[in-house]
Order: sequence, then C-alpha cells, then structure tokens
Amino acid sequence: MRDFKGKTAIVTGAASGIGLGIAKALAHAGANIVLADLRPEPLEVARKAIESIGVRAIGVTIDVSDAASVAAAGQAALDEFGALHIAVNNAGVAMHATPLEQVTPEEWEWVMGVNIKGVINGIRTFVPLIRSHGQGGHVVNTGSVSSLFVREGRHQGAYAMTKYAVLALSEALEQELKGSGIGVSIVMPGGVNTAIFDSAATRPERFGGTYRRPEQEALKSAFAPGMLAPEVVGRRVLQAMQDDEFYVLTHTTERDIISERLDRIKAAFDHADQIMPAIDRS
Ligand SMILES: NC(=O)c1ccc[n+]([C@@H]2O[C@H](COP(=O)([O-])OP(=O)(O)OC[C@H]3O[C@@H](n4cnc5c(N)ncnc54)[C@H](O)[C@@H]3O)[C@@H](O)[C@H]2O)c1
Repeated sequence: MRDFKGKTAIVTGAASGIGLGIAKALAHAGANIVLADLRPEPLEVARKAIESIGVRAIGVTIDVSDAASVAAAGQAALDEFGALHIAVNNAGVAMHATPLEQVTPEEWEWVMGVNIKGVINGIRTFVPLIRSHGQGGHVVNTGSVSSLFVREGRHQGAYAMTKYAVLALSEALEQELKGSGIGVSIVMPGGVNTAIFDSAATRPERFGGTYRRPEQEALKSAFAPGMLAPEVVGRRVLQAMQDDEFYVLTHTTERDIISERLDRIKAAFDHADQIMPAIDRS
C-alpha cells in the first residue's frame, strides 16, 4: 500500500509506545486513525496528539482479549469513517522475569488473552472489513524479536510463546490473503523505549486486576542499550507497509543467536536423515 491519504487505520494498544508511534507515522502519511486501547485517559491524550497532526482521529476503549469489544471497535471505525483499510494488531503485554513454573494460571490467561487472542480477534474482525470494499489494504501484527528465539536468562518463556504464535498467525494470514490486495506484515522489534515493563498495571479485572511486577520493571535497564524510540519503529512500519515487506525487523543485534538456532534445527534434520532409517517402523 503506497497512498495512505484519506484511508482509515485502526491501531490497538495505541495509547502508548509502539502503537502510538505507528499511529503517528500513519497520521503523518495522511491516514485517519481509530486509536483503540484499554486505558481511556491516555487514549484521549494520544487522540489529541494524532489530531494535532492534521488528520481525523477517534479513540475507542477496547479490551483486545474480548472478541465483542474488538467487534465494537471495528463497527466504530465504520460508523465514523465509512471504511477500514489498515489494521495494526499491536496491543501486547510483557511476562518477563518469571520462570514458566511460576507463571500463574491468571497470568497465562492474561498474556495469551492479550498477545494471542488479541491478534486473533483483530484478524477475525478487521480482515473481513478490509476485504469488503475491494480497495485493498494492509494488516500489521506486532510480534517481537522474541517471535524468533527465546532469550536466555531473562525468563521470557511465556511472552516468547505468545510472540511465536503471532508469527504463525501472520505467516498463515499472508498465505490466505495472497492475491487479495491486502498486504500483511509482522514487525519484530528488539528493545523499544515504552511502558511495556509496567504492563502489569494494565491487567484487566477478569484476569486478576492490576498489580506490580517489580522483577520485570527492574529488567528495563538490561534492555536499555540499543533501545529505539517508538516513533522510529512507527516510521519503519510505515515504510514496510509501503514496500509490502512481510518480516519487518528493526534491530540486527540478535542476528547471530537466531542464525545459531536455525543451524541447530538444520542439524536436527541432518541427524533425522541418518537416524530414521534405523528406527523400527513395524
Ligand atoms: N517495548 C519493546 O521493547 C517491545 C519489543 C518487541 C515487541 N513489543 C510489542 O509491542 C507491542 C506494544 O507494546 P509497547 O512496547 O508499545 O508497550 P506499551 O505498554 O507502551 O503499550 C501497550 C499498550 O497496549 C495497551 N493494552 C494493554 N492491554 C490491552 C488490552 N487488553 N486491550 C487493549 N489495549 C491493551 C496498553 O494500555 C498500552 O497503551 C506489544 O505487542 C509488545 O509485545 C514491544
């Protein structure tokens, strides 16, 4: 997609961080924006910031883990702007600094609810709306460099699991939308300077309500070197939509560790070639 002027974009998790950065970039390119977020007050601040860029913007309070809430946001986009062209399924929460055995059932429901079901609900709601007008469009899902490997020593297993799921959903969506005129991208950033380390403050009541995770908040300094500003990621995502790029990377520092993981998988295939003939198939 090259011309964003007068098009409509919905961005989830748009009150802060990467979502707001993407919303700003889209607004600078001339798109009208539906900002969707759980938190009404920062959402209104963000909406005003987008409007000051010179486009139309509405704020919709949404819980992406709730299908009905996402459907209502899609309807709000149609009611206000008549059509939807771009969907950015971005809202997400961290679950760092907790070994798998210690992640509670409520935390699993929450992190999977926001990071995985949020994207599923976005696909189910927004893709048919984009398809319906035949003018084409674009879907961006926010994964993470954690869609490609599990960072050792930071106990991010639960988070990484959800981001691997976002990668699978995105790869499937790209296949399914081939030829439809709707592009798909997955953005997989490394560290970005946002409020994500405090995301326990956004846990909805039905998953146990807001709480503190000091062990996760303390991790922010470990990620600090090389952190990008969310606006930079926003501009990168805009460029990726213009160029119809699928795998959208922002940091290259993890290239070697991810290559090593792929080499290990290749070696496992080689080993299977050798070992399988000797395995009893009766
Ligand atoms: N910050 C990073 O280093 C980094 C790196 C890679 C990927 N990401 C991903 O980027 C995305 C955005 O995170 P961020 O870093 O900008 O964090 P952030 O906390 O600044 O922004 C996330 C926004 O999502 C909203 N949100 C949380 N739960 C929600 C829900 N249930 N429904 C609707 N909105 C909800 C929050 O209110 C917040 O405004 C996430 O998917 C995250 O996993 C972040």
